[in-house]
Amino acid sequence: MTVPLDSDVLRLKNDVQIPALGFGTYLISENQVERALDTAISAGYRHVDTAEAYENEKGVGRALAKAFTAGLRRDDMFVTTKLFPGNPDWGLPAKNFGTTTISLDNSLDRLGLDYVDLYLIHSPMTPSERINQWRGLVELRDQGKARAIGVSNYSKIHIEEIRAAGLPLPEVNQIELHPWSQKRELVKYLRENLICVVAYSSLVPLDTWRTAVGHDSAKTQQMRVSDGTLEKIAKKYQVGEAQVLLRWGVQQGFAVLPKSTVNNRIFENADLFSFSLDEADMADLAGMERGTAVAWSMGDPIRLP
Ligand SMILES: NC(=O)c1ccc[n+]([C@@H]2O[C@H](COP(=O)([O-])OP(=O)(O)OC[C@H]3O[C@@H](n4cnc5c(N)ncnc54)[C@H](OP(=O)(O)O)[C@@H]3O)[C@@H](O)[C@H]2O)c1
Repeated sequence: MTVPLDSDVLRLKNDVQIPALGFGTYLISENQVERALDTAISAGYRHVDTAEAYENEKGVGRALAKAFTAGLRRDDMFVTTKLFPGNPDWGLPAKNFGTTTISLDNSLDRLGLDYVDLYLIHSPMTPSERINQWRGLVELRDQGKARAIGVSNYSKIHIEEIRAAGLPLPEVNQIELHPWSQKRELVKYLRENLICVVAYSSLVPLDTWRTAVGHDSAKTQQMRVSDGTLEKIAKKYQVGEAQVLLRWGVQQGFAVLPKSTVNNRIFENADLFSFSLDEADMADLAGMERGTAVAWSMGDPIRLP
């Protein structure tokens, strides 16, 4: 069985449309990101994912301004940024309702935008203020500063906390998802609650994933040994291994956010709708589950209380 190749736009429960392919910008510096996003826009990406914590929103804003001057319309581009919720363990106080709303104003200034398409709470790191931060996001959506709101790295427990407070549930949950970390129960729960799944760090199983100095993670040397599955599938479809991992995501209805600073990879990662993985290959990829999420060196924040 194959799935339609045209599932390149997903619809959130409030009818906002989100392109299934987004450009990830974590670990791209403020200086580098302008050129990388220029390339991504020329390769057809119409969705970019940044965050207050990535310290590159100004560079993202510069690339967007250039694209708008060149004729791209604001509503052609889907822009996501994220609230850094604070982290008392690092000496950074938890954001409350007021500082949450100020944070988006600051992000909008840096991005040079009047609104973002999606505003997320980056992680559930601050239990005492989580609900007040969510109230802040609901207010920001009401004010039109965010067309959609969501969370990132939230488990079912964190989302049920929002329901228990009588507040509207998120439109999106952005989580680490790839064949080594498939989080099937959580994905099922998100689908049941009409919460769109955005997958991050889709490329974790590649040998080339975050090899640069300082690009830390919890991926160990031992995990770098390949079992040959990806190579075999990539060869069959005559595509790159990165495309297989990204196609695995979009074929399950996730949005994906590949990051690269290398031009030919930025183009390669955008080519996801010209082929479709068959059932046997999807089953082989499902068989790669290891229960390991590695993008955060401290461990998957989804496990936080
Ligand atoms: N919400 C969260 O907590 C969270 C956490 C992590 C990530 N994210 C978001 O998700 C995005 C993607 O995740 P990620 O940055 O962890 O990693 P990723 O996109 O899964 O992988 C990026 C790594 O793979 C390499 N790569 C990219 N394309 C390749 C290709 N075609 N062939 C071989 N290697 C390739 C990149 O190197 P080069 O750059 O050298 O090409 C880089 O080392 C982030 O940028 C960010 O926007 C969110």
